[in-house]
Amino acid sequence: MESDLVPFAHTPIPHLKQFTLVNQTPQIKALMTILRNKDTPRRDFVFYSDRLFRILMEEGLAHLPFSEEIVETPTGAKYTGLKFESKICGVSIIRAGESMENALRQICPHCRIGKILIQRSEDGLAIPKLFYTKVPKDISTRQVLLLDPMLATGGSAIVAIEELIKLGVPENRILFLNLLATPEGVDTVLSRFPSMRVCSICLDERLNEQKYIIPGLGDFGDRYFGTD
Ligand code: PRP
Ligand code: URA
Repeated sequence: MESDLVPFAHTPIPHLKQFTLVNQTPQIKALMTILRNKDTPRRDFVFYSDRLFRILMEEGLAHLPFSEEIVETPTGAKYTGLKFESKICGVSIIRAGESMENALRQICPHCRIGKILIQRSEDGLAIPKLFYTKVPKDISTRQVLLLDPMLATGGSAIVAIEELIKLGVPENRILFLNLLATPEGVDTVLSRFPSMRVCSICLDERLNEQKYIIPGLGDFGDRYFGTD
């Protein structure tokens, strides 16, 4: 199935054409260094996560479909530009995904936001369970931005994506946005759903035995919401 999203400019893993990293600038690296530091206080962790989420949202929206729009400028000249072509909807995977909602709202103030509650087992080994879903009734007609800062094994994402597909969302209209991903997680998700898209701020090396991302930043939800 062809994606109706705009193609990504580059992909760091050649066989994963549906995956992209945001441009790895020194600024991105500096912001991520703050998040990775175990001594970063919660206030700073939240502040710099929010900055990275804004960057990620802008990158994500850049890949949605656009159509031509002609406007008249104050000089009286006509300008042939672009406008967003489709309706969008954010869907956050509770709990950590909720931390990304504000960043989406800041650039799309009226954006609908659905929720999917999924729980992993503490050791990350059992199949995650779906507990609750609430999304707009017309979600099947929208471009869906799936929000979760961490893509580790991909288990939680797969449960969420299966739920979206069950609700009628075409796979090629799902764009999964996250802060930190692993090659294993990206591979697992895109092998299962080859026409959706994944966009991440960072791609880390691997998972450890407890299924935490290495080098990673620890438990994102606990650090962001102060439950560590
Ligand atoms: C984290 C994260 C993802 C999941 C990723 O959530 O936000 O949902 O782990 O891991 P996976 O790719 O191996 O499924 P967590 O279960 O820690 O819950 P939280 O949202 O309450 O922090
Ligand atoms: N979830 C997190 O919050 N961190 C990890 O490293 C893996 C899953």
